[in-house]
Amino acid sequence: MPSETFSVEFIQERFLQAGQSHVFAFWDQLSASQQKELLNQAQSIDLKALKYLLDAQSKAGSVHAPGAFSPDALAPAPYIALPVLEQGHQDWAEAVRVGEGLLDAGKVAVLTVAGGQGTRLGFDGPKGAFPITPVRQKPIFQLFAEKIRAQAIRYGQPIHWFIMTSVLNHDSTKQFFRDHNNFGLAANRIHFFTQGEMPAVSFDDKILMESPGKIAMSPDGHGGVFRALAQSKALSWMQAEGLDLISLFQVDNPLVKVLDPAFIGFHHIHGSEMSSKMVPKKNPDEKVGLFCLKSDKLSIVEYSDVPQPMQQLRDSDGKLTFRAGNIAVHLLNRTFAERMALQGHLPFHYARKKVSYIDVSGTLLKPLEPNAIKFEQFIFDALPLAKNAIVVEASREDEFSPVKNAVGSDSPETSKQAQSNLFRRWLNAAGESMLKDLNALEVSPLCADTQDAFIDYWQKSSNRPPLKGDIYLE
Ligand code: UTP
Repeated sequence: MPSETFSVEFIQERFLQAGQSHVFAFWDQLSASQQKELLNQAQSIDLKALKYLLDAQSKAGSVHAPGAFSPDALAPAPYIALPVLEQGHQDWAEAVRVGEGLLDAGKVAVLTVAGGQGTRLGFDGPKGAFPITPVRQKPIFQLFAEKIRAQAIRYGQPIHWFIMTSVLNHDSTKQFFRDHNNFGLAANRIHFFTQGEMPAVSFDDKILMESPGKIAMSPDGHGGVFRALAQSKALSWMQAEGLDLISLFQVDNPLVKVLDPAFIGFHHIHGSEMSSKMVPKKNPDEKVGLFCLKSDKLSIVEYSDVPQPMQQLRDSDGKLTFRAGNIAVHLLNRTFAERMALQGHLPFHYARKKVSYIDVSGTLLKPLEPNAIKFEQFIFDALPLAKNAIVVEASREDEFSPVKNAVGSDSPETSKQAQSNLFRRWLNAAGESMLKDLNALEVSPLCADTQDAFIDYWQKSSNRPPLKGDIYLE
C-alpha cells in the first residue's frame, strides 16, 4: 500500500485516465467518512499493475495466469518417500534428530494462512471458528492451539503462532480468540497480521463497486503472505526473536502436524529454502495441484493444466507417474520469505466468481452466474524461486483431510471421520483390537499428539474408559 497521500483530484484523475472513473460516480452523495474510506481503498489499488493483469488476460484470450503453462519440459517431481519395509528408516530417523534439535533450540515459528473467504463451506464466520473435532466439536483454531501447546511442552520452548487474516475476517478472528482466552496460549505468542486485497473486475475490465462508497475488494490470495509478513513487520520481529524457519499450513486441514520434526530435519539437511509435503494422488482425476519439474524447476501445476494423457501415465510398478499431490504444507526459511517479499513478484491467477455489485443507478445486483474476475497469488508459485526446494511424502490418512465443502468430499463429515479413524489406529497400535462398539473417538492433543505419545499414555493410563460409544480422551 502506498505510504504517500495524494489529493482527491489527483486520485480521481488517475482513475479517469485508467478508464475507471465510475468508481467516483457517487462521490458527491457520500458522507465525509464514506469519502475517506473510498479514497483509502482507491489509493491501495495499483492501477498500472491492474492494467497489466487485464491486458495479459485479454492477450491470453482466457482467464489464466500471465505466462502460464506449457506442457513441454514437464517431468514428475522427485520426492523423499515415506520409509517402507527396510528402506528409508535411517534417513527419517536422522531427519527427526535434526528437526528436534531445531525445535529444542526454539528456531521454528508456526504460520496459518486464514484469510480466505470459505465460500464453499458457507460458514458465517472465520473458517478457523468452525467446529470440527469428532466428539467435542472443538473449533479448528482451538485444535491448532492445543497442538501448539503440546509441542511447546515437548520442546520446552514458547512457540510463536502467526495467523494471516484478511480485511474481511480480521476483527472477527481476533474477537474469536479473545472470547476463548486465546485457547490457553499466551497472548504475546499469537501474532495476527492482515493480507492485502485486490479489486474485483467485471468481464469488460471495470472495477466493481459493492456500494456507492465501496469498491468490491477481496483478499489477494495466500501468496499475499510474503508481502503481508513484511508489511506487518512480522519478519523483522521473527529475526529479532531468532526464528529462522516458518512452518506454514492452511486453516482448513485439522489433521495437519503443526510442527513436524522429520520434515524440519529434511528441510535443514538439504539446505532447502522452501519445502513442501505431498501425498500420492488417489486416482488420475483427483483435483489437486501436482508437484512437477517444469524446465527443471520444482513447481506446482494445477490439475486443470496437466494434459489428460499425462495424468493417466503409470510407472512400471503401476503407480501414477505424475502423483505428487500438493497438500499446502510448507517450510520456509525466514530469509527466503524476506527475499520473496522484496522481489518475489509472484504471478496473479484469475478466477471467475460471482460478485454482487451496483449498477450505474446504484442498484445492488446479485448475479447468479460468475460475472467478475478476482485476482489471487498462490504461495506455491514461490517454489521455483527457492534454492534446493524439496518435497517430502506424508501419509494422507494421518495428515490430510481438508474442510472445503459443506457436504460430500472434503467436508466436515469426512474430516471428522478421518480424525476419528486416526485415533482408532493409535488405539490399535497401543494393542486394542476390539473396537467394534466404539463410535467416534477424539484424543486431545494435550493428552497425546502423536502415535508414540498415545501408546505411552495408554500403557500408563490407570483409568481407561470402556471402548464403546463416543469417547473423548484428554
Ligand atoms: P482456499 O483456496 O480453499 O479458499 O484457501 P477459501 O477462501 O478458504 O475457500 P473458498 O475457495 O472460498 O471456498 C486455502 C487456504 O488459503 C487461505 C484460506 O484461508 C485457506 O487456509 N487463503 C486463501 C488465504 O489465507 N488468503 C486468501 O486470499 C485465500
